Amino acid sequence: MRKLIAGNWKMNGSKGFTAEIIGGIVNAPVPRGVDVLVCVPFPYIVQGAAMAKDVLSIGAQDCSVHRENGAYTGEVSARMIGDCGARYVIVGHSERRQYHSESDAVIAQKASAAHEAGLIAIICVGESESEREAGHEKDIVAQQIAGAIPASANAQNTVIAYEPVWAIGTGKTASADDVAVMHSFIRQKLQERLADSQKMRILYGGSMKPENAAQLLSIRDVDGGLIGGASLKLQDFMAIVRAGAEIA
Ligand code: PGA
Repeated sequence: MRKLIAGNWKMNGSKGFTAEIIGGIVNAPVPRGVDVLVCVPFPYIVQGAAMAKDVLSIGAQDCSVHRENGAYTGEVSARMIGDCGARYVIVGHSERRQYHSESDAVIAQKASAAHEAGLIAIICVGESESEREAGHEKDIVAQQIAGAIPASANAQNTVIAYEPVWAIGTGKTASADDVAVMHSFIRQKLQERLADSQKMRILYGGSMKPENAAQLLSIRDVDGGLIGGASLKLQDFMAIVRAGAEIA
């Protein structure tokens, strides 16, 4: 499967930074055979989408559960995100689960709102360090898959991102064996409920960087990466994009 290399800027950036990084990706150039996505903060979607041309896609990092316009101060709907030129939206990132108490049910509502608006939802799952230490990582991920993937999901409108919480922004990466075991487990769980599960992309996220990208992206059932810190540096992000193109 063609790899998807997705940057997640989190709450980083500015107009100048957007011009520098998105312009840099467009001029890099991006090799063929890989899909590139950058998920920027809401205010930079319009600018990013205008610059992205056909070279990369722009995404958001969250959306509202509410589909229709209304009295929801501070909320941004999936439809607005699409209207601004984004094609993807991340839902259920562990930082949203942790700092905003988002449950699997809320994440499923957000993903289905994204689908209704014609966006591709990147649904994040992953266990915490204590859950892994207790040997519960598969139970946790199975529970998240059961609860956070809405009935509207298919391989065209949904991407799964496996991000072990303890590997995010810590420099610690899951071992190749752990990633292989979890990705094949996720594939199996998807098979149990989706007709086109073989075609659904499963990304790995958590301290992916140029030094480990080729190894992680070569693992069976790793169909791309969700990259935080390293997506803020053009050279690092492009090195990961090139690794994705070579392995595809
Ligand atoms: P990281 O973040 O690459 O900085 O670990 C990944 C993510 O949170 O999506």
